[in-house]
Amino acid sequence: MNTPLLQVDELSVIARSNGRDVTLVDRLSFTLAEGEILGLVGESGSGKTLACRALMRLLPTGNLHAHGHAVRLAGTNLLELNDNEMRAIRGGQLGMVFQNPSSHLDPLMCVGEQISEGIRLHQGATKQEAQALAIELLRQVGIPDPQARAKHFPHEFSGGMRQRAMIAVALGCNPKVLIADEPTTALDVTVQAQILRLLLNLRDQRGLSLILISHDLGVVAQTADSVAVMYAGRLCEQGNKHEVLTSPQHPYTAALIDCQPSRSTGFSGLKTITGHPPQPDARPQGCRFSSRCQQSKSQCINERPDSRPITENQLVACHFPLRASFP
Ligand SMILES: Nc1ncnc2c1ncn2[C@@H]1O[C@H](COP(=O)(O)OP(=O)(O)OP(=O)(O)O)[C@@H](O)[C@H]1O
Ligand SMILES: [Mg+2]
Repeated sequence: MNTPLLQVDELSVIARSNGRDVTLVDRLSFTLAEGEILGLVGESGSGKTLACRALMRLLPTGNLHAHGHAVRLAGTNLLELNDNEMRAIRGGQLGMVFQNPSSHLDPLMCVGEQISEGIRLHQGATKQEAQALAIELLRQVGIPDPQARAKHFPHEFSGGMRQRAMIAVALGCNPKVLIADEPTTALDVTVQAQILRLLLNLRDQRGLSLILISHDLGVVAQTADSVAVMYAGRLCEQGNKHEVLTSPQHPYTAALIDCQPSRSTGFSGLKTITGHPPQPDARPQGCRFSSRCQQSKSQCINERPDSRPITENQLVACHFPLRASFP
């Protein structure tokens, strides 16, 4: 098998408050191949954004700290780089489209300038070349009349256009890996489909690898090649999209799929998973889903399940995976 482009090995994020450590992301490991789209799913608060910010070494300053064995991008361990080296990688080889584009675009700078700034910094282009490339990028992400739009400010753009502009800013740095954090959540269905198609085209045309963060399994089913499911700071299941979505092995994944609105009716029959995810400072010591799992046994409550391969393309962190209970 080829060496993956990105290899995340036991990455954790810890919050320190009042002298106490709370683990928000717990020993996350996954890989991403060149040109692969990985859908990272999980309920609100499961740690998707923090995990990706940690791998970019872009955690908000303050009480949060990350540690891990390695985050290797094309063989380089990002955790060993100094701040300058990391800055060059970030925006260069590794880009992120943030969950809320409005707060990550500069309101006082026209959109074209924000894109060309990255191009100048990371692609060594002249001011004029960068401006021309910025307009070309706006065209590629589907902004109508890009020449005129490049001179507009973010507040003059609609939500969908701001999202596209954020993608153009990230692409200006010519990344190998793009992390898109809920890129379609705030958008209506038509615009959502357009943005997802755009991301697929970028993968096909540029060979871009993508981590697509979403709480929406439908979005992941449409777009991703592989899926990683997070629950309460840990990965509970990951693997090939088709296998994970058609033959889930973790009871949490199965429950999530069960709660998805039916494609034909648009309603899920109001199915939900009983209970709530545990708060970060009150998570069970064994399987974190044990308090909500209908087949929880004492081993689940006491012992952390390690992630292990269940087929060639599927890993599950469950003591009693579903396939094993229904041979
Ligand atoms: N600075 C912080 N200090 C303490 N806890 C934090 C901090 N930032 C985030 N958290 C907590 O970490 C957990 C994971 O947050 P994160 O933003 O990664 O979740 P998420 O999966 O991206 O959720 P969403 O789908 O709502 O975006 C949450 O419980 C959140 O409250
Ligand atoms: Mg988030």
